[in-house]
Amino acid sequence: MGQFSMFRKYRDYVPLWNEQVSTAKSKRRWTPGGIAIGLSIILNVIFIWRWWVGVTPTALDNYQHLNEYSLLAPDVAILPASSENAIVTSLYTDAFATAVATLGHTISKVNSSASKIMIYLPEKTSPRAVCIASASGFTPHPVARIAPPHPGVHRHFLDQYSKLQLWDLERLGIKSLVYLDADTLVYRNFDELFSLPYRFAAVPDVFLDDRGFSSGFNAGMLFLRPSREVLKDMVSKIGTADYPAEDAEQSFLNHYFGKEALRLPFTYNGNMAIKKRTKAMWADLKESIHVVHYTLVKPFLQGDYAEVPIDKLEKNIKSKMGKHGGIFVDELNEWAQAWRETEEKYGDTFAECGALASS
Ligand SMILES: *[C@@H]1O[C@H](CO)[C@@H](O)[C@H](O)[C@H]1NC(C)=O
Repeated sequence: MGQFSMFRKYRDYVPLWNEQVSTAKSKRRWTPGGIAIGLSIILNVIFIWRWWVGVTPTALDNYQHLNEYSLLAPDVAILPASSENAIVTSLYTDAFATAVATLGHTISKVNSSASKIMIYLPEKTSPRAVCIASASGFTPHPVARIAPPHPGVHRHFLDQYSKLQLWDLERLGIKSLVYLDADTLVYRNFDELFSLPYRFAAVPDVFLDDRGFSSGFNAGMLFLRPSREVLKDMVSKIGTADYPAEDAEQSFLNHYFGKEALRLPFTYNGNMAIKKRTKAMWADLKESIHVVHYTLVKPFLQGDYAEVPIDKLEKNIKSKMGKHGGIFVDELNEWAQAWRETEEKYGDTFAECGALASS
């Protein structure tokens, strides 16, 4: 009754909003028309932003052949690597054994005097695969698996947190190391990296999608100074650090070394994605590249990360030639050539490995 009398009192006033139905201030603002206008403004801002970004490519998407000078200053002496320096790779599954052997052969060819170490998971790899992978000179070093801190990590990356064990190699007397994923090949000596005065360095990542050339780094090639103290600190934080739970070790490392990572030139981690994005940049890089990273095509794998038997490897490489419109034929031929040399040199060892247990 009181409310009716109130309305009668302000007879001339026609309310825009019915106070009795909608009392919450915020609620009454969201009419369908208001939502439509709001959405339209947001979509326009996004559209204009994307148009602006789209017409302003990065210097790398807009790569031009301008700088003709060598990467390294010509008058600075480079210390040769010693046994306190190591080139390290990893074996978490048998399927990568031939790739590790091939990588090892390409490292020998560039005459680095660094030690060659392969960390591996004894419970995940067979004696046969460890034997094949170490045939070309990697010393196998078993490590304990580090499990992903959260469920949901992609099944291809379930063992990748074990990469943190690189910091444990301080116990072997290693002062600085260059880590290379098994799906890389070395084209040139990179001894200059071992005397970097930093604790950690890596190469910025490259994506095929909108992320493009990224400020985050790719964890397929790392320079680091092993330290068991740092390892302990990292392991104590993988469970509580704030980053997407489904991410692998690369994401954790990017967060851990967010402000400290030294960004290295692309030549030390020649990600195939560069070729797909910017052909001219790849062509220039390729003239003096140190490491090619077979990210988009893996010549030594078949199906869903399955092992290829040694006698089927050549055929398997050929079957990959048409991938990505055939733009990686050169790189696949280079891998095939490195594999042929590896098999020629270490084929007898591979045959002996074949007699070992394969599970
Ligand atoms: C590595 O050393 C061998 C033997 O001394 C030499 O023939 C070869 O040219 C060297 N390779 C490189 C890339 O320096």
